[in-house]
Amino acid sequence: MIDIKKNLRTLIPYKVNTKPYDVKLDANEGSNYLLNAKLNLDNFVPQLYPDSDAVLLRENMARYYGCKKSNIMVGNGSSELILNVINSFCDKEDKVITFEPSFSMYPIYCKLADVKYSSIKSQDNYSFKIENILNKYDEEKPKILIICNPNNPTGSYIEKKDIIKILDYINDTVVILDEAYIEFGGESSVDLINNYENLIVMRTLSKAFGLAGLRVGGLISNERMVDNLWKVKLPYNINSASQYIANQAFENLNIIEDHIDHVKMERNRMKQMLEKEEMKPYNSMTNFIMFETSIENLDKKLEKKGVLIRNFSKDIENHYRVSIGKKEDNDLLINRIKEVKYEEGKRS
Ligand SMILES: Cc1ncc(COP(=O)(O)O)c(C=O)c1O
Repeated sequence: MIDIKKNLRTLIPYKVNTKPYDVKLDANEGSNYLLNAKLNLDNFVPQLYPDSDAVLLRENMARYYGCKKSNIMVGNGSSELILNVINSFCDKEDKVITFEPSFSMYPIYCKLADVKYSSIKSQDNYSFKIENILNKYDEEKPKILIICNPNNPTGSYIEKKDIIKILDYINDTVVILDEAYIEFGGESSVDLINNYENLIVMRTLSKAFGLAGLRVGGLISNERMVDNLWKVKLPYNINSASQYIANQAFENLNIIEDHIDHVKMERNRMKQMLEKEEMKPYNSMTNFIMFETSIENLDKKLEKKGVLIRNFSKDIENHYRVSIGKKEDNDLLINRIKEVKYEEGKRS
C-alpha cells in the first residue's frame, strides 16, 4: 500500500465522542436556540454554487466585529483559517508557539503543515504570564505565535493592555489571536488590526452564535494581510446553506445576546454547584469551566449516566472541562456527579 507522507504517519486521527447521551457538555457548543426560533428558507438557492466571496456574510460580520468587509476572510470554521495561516507563513524549519494547555488542535495543525511546534507553560493556576510569553518568543523566534484568548481549556484570560504589551514587543512574528470565546467575557482586540501589521484575529460562529454545525469562522486583519491570505482560500469554501443561515443569525443578534447572558449567569451557578460538590473549578471567561477532582475517570462514569464532559487528564491530571448548557442540563450534570460521588463512597 502506498503510505501517506512521513510526517503524517504517527498522527492519531481526531475522533469525537459518539456515545449516546442525554446531555452533551463536552464540546463547548451553544444550544440550538436560534434555528428553533427564527429560521426561514424562503429565498434559499441550493442549485447554484455559493457566493465564493461570501459578500453578505462578510458585510454582516464587519458590522458585528467593528471592521471593514475588506478586513475579513471567511473559512470553514476558524479551524480552516488557522491551518491556512500556518501553511501560508511557515516553511518546514519554522516554528509555531502556543500555550500549554491550549486548544488541542494547534499542535495537530502544525503536524499537518509539517512545521515545528513549541509551547509556553502556564502558571500553577493555569493563567499565563506576559514575561514568560515574551521570554519564550526571544528564545524560540517563532514564525507564528498563537494566543488563545480566552484560553481553551483553562478559561483564563489575558487583559487587553497585556495583549498590547505583547504586540508592542513582537513585530517580526505573525500573531494569531484566537478569540473563539471572546463574546463570553473580556474585550476583543479586533480594533487593533490596523495598528499591528502582524496581527490576525480569529472569530467563529461556533460558540456564542451556537452555530457549530455550520462551520463558519472569520479571519480579521489589515487589508494587506487579508489580500495575501486570499491566495490560499479555496473557492466556494463556505456552502450556501451555511451562508444563508449565518446571515439570518446576524438579523437576530438579540437572541445571541440573550444566550450570552444566560451562559454568564449559568457559569456562575455552575461554579458554585461544582464547589459545593467539592470539585475545584477555575475562573472562566468562556462558555465552559475547567475543574479538578480526585475522582478518576469521572467522564466515563458520567458517560454511563448519559452526560458527556471532556477529560483532560492525559495532559493535566484529574482535570475535566464542562460546557455551560441549559439550566436543566447543568442541573442534571450536578445530580449525576452527586450519584457518582455516592457510588464512590459506597465502594471505599
Ligand atoms: C480555541 C478554539 N479555536 C478554534 C476552534 C475551532 O472553531 P471552529 O468551529 O470555528 O472551527 C475551537 C473549537 O473548539 C476552539 O476551542
